[in-house]
Amino acid sequence: MFNPAKARTFYIRTFGCQMNKHDSERISGLLMGSGYSRVHDPLAADVVIFNTCCVRESAVTRFLGNLKELSSKIKVNPVARIAVVGCTAQDMGDQIFEIVPQVDIVVGTGNLNELPILIDKCIKNNEKISLVSSNFDSQTISRMPLEQECEFKAWVPISYGCSNYCSYCIVPYVRGNEVSRDPNQIIDEIMSLAQNGVKEITLLGQNVNSYSSKGYSFYDLLEKVSEFNALKRIRFATSHPKDLSRSIIDLIASKDNICKHIHLPVQSGSNKILSLMNRGYERDYYLDNVKYIRAKIPECSLTTDIIVGFPGETEKDFEDTLDLVRKCRFDQSFTFIFSPRRNTKAAQMPDEVGRQEKVERLMALTQLQDEIALLSNRAYIGRQEEILVDGVSKKNWSEVRGRTDSNKVVNATGGTDLIGKFVNVKIYDAGKYSLHGKIII
Ligand code: SAH
Ligand code: SF4
Ligand code: F3S
Repeated sequence: MFNPAKARTFYIRTFGCQMNKHDSERISGLLMGSGYSRVHDPLAADVVIFNTCCVRESAVTRFLGNLKELSSKIKVNPVARIAVVGCTAQDMGDQIFEIVPQVDIVVGTGNLNELPILIDKCIKNNEKISLVSSNFDSQTISRMPLEQECEFKAWVPISYGCSNYCSYCIVPYVRGNEVSRDPNQIIDEIMSLAQNGVKEITLLGQNVNSYSSKGYSFYDLLEKVSEFNALKRIRFATSHPKDLSRSIIDLIASKDNICKHIHLPVQSGSNKILSLMNRGYERDYYLDNVKYIRAKIPECSLTTDIIVGFPGETEKDFEDTLDLVRKCRFDQSFTFIFSPRRNTKAAQMPDEVGRQEKVERLMALTQLQDEIALLSNRAYIGRQEEILVDGVSKKNWSEVRGRTDSNKVVNATGGTDLIGKFVNVKIYDAGKYSLHGKIII
């Protein structure tokens, strides 16, 4: 039986980065605008959507495991349809039907606006359907309606895709080259979010610093956005070391509502590896910029991404990474084992690092970073911080959780009535990943 969209329900599960999470808000907005209602149980949905990530092999394995586990349960309902969308759909296309035969619909990153039509077609004709265009307008998604996950925090994409072609990275192949959004569109969107009670926004792009449209650079855009006083917190991610200028750092220092946190992926501390990665900067350049940030904004937290076991990484190269981590004293590092990705240059490079070696390097790096993170967090003990409460603590239901301006997670005893509010806390304890605070009335 062909159910009209208004009678249908959908469930969406999202993997991957903040951009993908935001895309899911747009997919939800589009489906709800087409008459669907959203459910939070995949087994209760007529359409189950997996919005996927393929940045590392492990992300694909996790998604496929999830999909396989759920698909037979979902298909107990004979009308239920499974759709795989986003980056892995763009990368693998129809191959997904072969790996998981229960999948009905595959839609790439540039065709998400057509999802309701494709679902209709799939149900009406009782056929599998896929749409993965290689030449697409990556901005299409910005014109889809938005269904925000959180009413007081919002993501605002400023650019789509990436043109950096770091040699290990699949993102440019599945998201297309970088396209910056019209600044007027971004500013209008932010104004409307602020009018609707949003207190914190995060400007999103794979490399926000290379934003350029209609005469606006990232500096111009950030300065303009910081003029909205209603917005108490402005965040942005991700910064690319080669494009993060000193004037942007000065701007962050000078504006109260630009959060004092910079995510600045370094990837490696070795010049040889950085060059093989096509990152466009050297170790000393990175270290100099970190020095500048530390001097200009002492309270700024600094986080990074690091890959170990890149092809050709010797023990000496890895030592250079450890040394850089010691010098930069990152608040947090997201560390990954190199994973060869289809189409990328690094996938063709001879992979000389053994599996055991890679795992050992990851463990050594994690241990060092954990020690540094603990010290950095302990330095908060005794301080008074303002947090924006965004939910209940993961471990203790009598506690709420929020983030400081510098993006540190703080847990504090308090009720759910605090969610969405700024509160002052006195920090009295600290672990590797979070702080403990007492709310000050
Ligand atoms: N645009 C952002 C994020 C890219 S993906 C940036 O440039 O930083 C997030 C992180 O995944 C990257 O920073 C990198 O550390 C990691 N990553 C990307 N491709 C990878 C690969 N093939 N193997 C292992 N880690 C990878
Ligand atoms: Fe990938 Fe590099 Fe672009 Fe980041 S900057 S998305 S790592 S190609
Ligand atoms: Fe994001 Fe993963 Fe795609 S990191 S851009 S969802 S490949």
